[in-house]
Amino acid sequence: MLDPKLLNQIIDVAANAAYKSSLLKGMGDKNAADQAAVDSMRTELNNMSIKGKVVIGEGEMDEAPMLYIGEVLGKSEFPKIDIAVDPLDGTKLAANNMPNAISVISISEEGNLLQAPDTYMDKISVGPNLPENIVDLDEDIKKNIQNLAKAKNKNIKDICVCMLDRERHQHFINETKSLGAKLKLISDGDVAGSIFSAIDESEVDMYIGIGGAPEGVLAASAIKCLGGQFQARLKIDEEDERQRAQKLGITDFQKKYYLDDIVKGDVIFCASGVTDGELVSGVKIINQEFEAETFALHYSQKFFQKVKTKYNI
Ligand code: FBP
Repeated sequence: MLDPKLLNQIIDVAANAAYKSSLLKGMGDKNAADQAAVDSMRTELNNMSIKGKVVIGEGEMDEAPMLYIGEVLGKSEFPKIDIAVDPLDGTKLAANNMPNAISVISISEEGNLLQAPDTYMDKISVGPNLPENIVDLDEDIKKNIQNLAKAKNKNIKDICVCMLDRERHQHFINETKSLGAKLKLISDGDVAGSIFSAIDESEVDMYIGIGGAPEGVLAASAIKCLGGQFQARLKIDEEDERQRAQKLGITDFQKKYYLDDIVKGDVIFCASGVTDGELVSGVKIINQEFEAETFALHYSQKFFQKVKTKYNI
């Protein structure tokens, strides 16, 4: 089990990254907004009394000088933890000051988070209190919607399916429309997109589609805490992707991952708003303080809350 005291520290890590990134929102420079969040997360994590290994980060050692996969962070030998980060999910959203840019991190005990390569991933998620495998990655989308509607005792027209607005999802878009269910298309940010499927405040019933694999591991961390369901499969098409996956110990490229294959044991997940969004509000600066809102979850403590924290600037 992860020490419950770690939750507040991880909230601080996410909140500070969101703040640093928010200073660059709307400036049209997605790389700068991302870098600000990366620098902040790395500094904050290095100040913690942990031995944390980055398993989902900014890329491999030769391509990312900071928060690279395998980087060890923290100033003590214990506790040994795995760290997954997406310091800014929605770099374009932040650069253009659009809703739903968030700073995201999850941690588990050592060895418990899937080390996924930076490739695409096929994903599907739904919320809690549903029969096991009520939707399935390998099932036709129409069938998934029909099964979900039945289980939720809803009409098809009241089922809302969220996905990234991409050409590659046109068949999903067409089939959802032809069945008469609702769409929620998002331009970016599929960690939040997937979480929408598992929280009551959102109208989304199911998230589906291809997005980043690192984002998939982070979304799975949240969905686990929320009691939802998540299935995924890596999209390994190119030789270099194959090699990157193999380096991380992945040999079965067709493997269908269930929640417990991605996140084992206890997990803490935090997402702080950079810009205002449906999941959390963005950073507010008030006099010499900033206020961040964080969607904070701790699986073993059954803790899931939006937390507002203030910090001196
Ligand atoms: P960045 O924040 O790295 O720009 O990622 C945004 C995002 O929308 C992710 O949330 C999503 O998983 C991925 O990009 C989808 O990739 P693509 O834009 O190539 O479809």
